[in-house]
Amino acid sequence: MAHIRLENVGKRYGRRVALQGVDLEVRPGEVLCLVGPNGAGKTTLMEIMEGLRRPDSGSVTVLGSRGWPLPPVVRRRLGTVLQHTEFLPDLTVAETMRFFARVAQVPRAAETEALAAVGLEGVGRRRVGQLSGGQRQRLAIATALVNAPAVLFLDEPSTGLDAQARSSLWEFLDGWRNEDRAVVLTTHYLEEAEAMADRVAVVREGRVRRVASARELVGELEHDVVMEVTRGARAAASIEGVEGVLAVSPTSRGDLRVHGRDLGRVVPRVTSRLREVLGDVPPLTVRTVGLRDALLAYLAPSGPGAPFGGAPR
Ligand SMILES: Nc1ncnc2c1ncn2[C@@H]1O[C@H](COP(=O)(O)OP(=O)(O)OP(=O)(O)O)[C@@H](O)[C@H]1O
Ligand SMILES: [Mg+2]
Repeated sequence: MAHIRLENVGKRYGRRVALQGVDLEVRPGEVLCLVGPNGAGKTTLMEIMEGLRRPDSGSVTVLGSRGWPLPPVVRRRLGTVLQHTEFLPDLTVAETMRFFARVAQVPRAAETEALAAVGLEGVGRRRVGQLSGGQRQRLAIATALVNAPAVLFLDEPSTGLDAQARSSLWEFLDGWRNEDRAVVLTTHYLEEAEAMADRVAVVREGRVRRVASARELVGELEHDVVMEVTRGARAAASIEGVEGVLAVSPTSRGDLRVHGRDLGRVVPRVTSRLREVLGDVPPLTVRTVGLRDALLAYLAPSGPGAPFGGAPR
């Protein structure tokens, strides 16, 4: 059974529609990642799953309990790291944890365990106001862990973290989840979502457009390679006709972006055409497509309807 199930959920803020017709479930053991542009509705969707916001319509079932507000016993089995967490700067790390543990009514050992889980056991006496951004983020996670939640929600946990802190966050999450625990998070770092999420939910304009593994989403793209040819814009017309080339778009800097299919064949064909037309092969980069490309295709104006046939970006 799913930990959380949303059916046909809608939410407005005044006249602004934040969510409509959302069906989504969170399965035990999974890392589910919500991705989509600013204002798409990700935070609203998380808050509804967390029981922090009441939907206007539809049904929400959390850990077997349906309706709003969530009973406190259910609410206590969810861990929440908000997009912005404010702590009292003059409290120490240990005092902050004490406070959250009291609210959650858990024994002291849970505090120490949660701090250790995020690697903050050494800084219990430090004032929260003196923590670095990354340490504060870890503290936010520790406070969400005190009650041993079944689902841990993190809204943009990696924003503001350096590369090393991000990778240790992901390692932590990967180690934390088990067959009963699920992680739901939002991120704008699509490489991370691609590497870490079991399923990705694409949110756009208040709707969940698609839920699938990153591999599936990427596999649905028509192209598998993107080439960027420095100052190649003038060769656009001749590249268009090359076998395996699906789309050609000059960039504002005079470079040329080429979407192709069948990486191993299309790249040599394009380079030899470039040599013919330009007398030489200009510097170029070749990369295989990833979640970022799949998401851009979903967000293209021609949008999904014609999912991945949309204009290249
Ligand atoms: N408290 C609020 N009152 C009014 N409108 C709101 C409120 N919170 C969000 N909105 C609006 O609802 C829509 C969805 O916002 P939401 O914060 O859920 O998006 P998001 O996907 O989390 O964006 P971001 O990536 O910027 O965090 C936006 O149009 C936003 O302006
Ligand atoms: Mg948000």
